[in-house]
Amino acid sequence: MKTEKWVVREHIEGVPDVHRIYEKVVEDLDVGLAPDEMLLRTLYISVDPYLQGIALDTPLGGHMGADSVMEVLAAGPRAAHRPGDLVQGFGGWRTHLVSTGEPELWQTGTFPMVFPAYRRLDPSHYDDALPLETALSVMGGPGMTAWGTLTKYLAVRPGDTVVISGASGPVGTLAGQLASLAGARVVGTTSSRQKASYLTGLGFDEVVVYRHGDSPEAVREALVEAAPDGVDRYFDNLGGAVTDAVFSMLNVGSRVAVCWQWATQVGNEGVGPRLLPYLMFPRATVRGIFSLEWFTESNWAALHTELGGRIRSGEILFDHTVHRGFDSVPTAYDSLYRDREASRGKVLVAL
Ligand SMILES: NC(=O)c1ccc[n+]([C@@H]2O[C@H](COP(=O)([O-])OP(=O)(O)OC[C@H]3O[C@@H](n4cnc5c(N)ncnc54)[C@H](OP(=O)(O)O)[C@@H]3O)[C@@H](O)[C@H]2O)c1
Repeated sequence: MKTEKWVVREHIEGVPDVHRIYEKVVEDLDVGLAPDEMLLRTLYISVDPYLQGIALDTPLGGHMGADSVMEVLAAGPRAAHRPGDLVQGFGGWRTHLVSTGEPELWQTGTFPMVFPAYRRLDPSHYDDALPLETALSVMGGPGMTAWGTLTKYLAVRPGDTVVISGASGPVGTLAGQLASLAGARVVGTTSSRQKASYLTGLGFDEVVVYRHGDSPEAVREALVEAAPDGVDRYFDNLGGAVTDAVFSMLNVGSRVAVCWQWATQVGNEGVGPRLLPYLMFPRATVRGIFSLEWFTESNWAALHTELGGRIRSGEILFDHTVHRGFDSVPTAYDSLYRDREASRGKVLVAL
């Protein structure tokens, strides 16, 4: 049978130029399955900022990796899942694929990462309130990242000031709403006025507008005004000027979650340990976030019950921006880096 896939043609640092990086290829897929293999059809593809690094580590000509929801069309007798099963895994930018669904080592430039085994989705967990594509958003990686960071590390207390940088996506919007429900005053940063009013509508108390390259002095001034009592918890998706300002505002006993560093990874802003002196007096704790550590059956069940329950009851809101058709995958991905006024929450592609 024929399969379509997007392959990496060029390695480009910085903000991705999707027209140069990706090329669509149509090829024959050998569907003669080994006993432990499955033939899968992709239903939804997730586009995420971390794909910038994945593309740089993908050998030229290799297909682009990404999180996806797939349906098993056929399976060998010893395969992990059966025909008709729905699974979530790192199927990539491909319409159809043959895979065992076993964990896969992805050697990145910095450290070896293992993409987890394909996970069977329980159809009873998904309905109109939590449709299937939420397996890639609130009930998937972004949901686990926000919920895991809030419940397993940040321990937000009533009255805390919580700052979330790069807050307009699924991770930031969920983290902000969870912090708010825990009784915190929540300050977000995002890159446009429209997205700022979106965040205010979700219950953020203050929003500071910042785009990479804006004046560091202006963002510092705005943050000091938005958080006059200092910062108790910092959920960092950006790094750079916002993080420089927030570190100098940390209160005693504060905690910082390093979830991503847009400034270093995409903006190529690699400066020295300029922030470390700010950790000493407030006795602040900084922890790296790598949400794959929470991808366990018991955590998925808890995510469905706790975060899923709050979404069902209307306590927490979420948004999807769904692009349609396999050809739109690079455009959907590109929208993460542009002025994505039209986008809200998690960006996905439905095939
Ligand atoms: N460590 C982990 O385990 C883990 C897991 C999942 C996600 N993450 C990271 O968490 C972050 C949020 O994830 P998400 O899925 O919710 O992302 P997203 O919002 O859908 O992706 C876009 C991100 O890039 C920022 N951005 C884009 N262009 C920008 C510019 N010119 N200047 C400044 N910021 C710009 C956005 O900030 P705006 O609000 O301004 O649009 C936003 O933070 C991402 O950086 C992602 O890589 C980490």
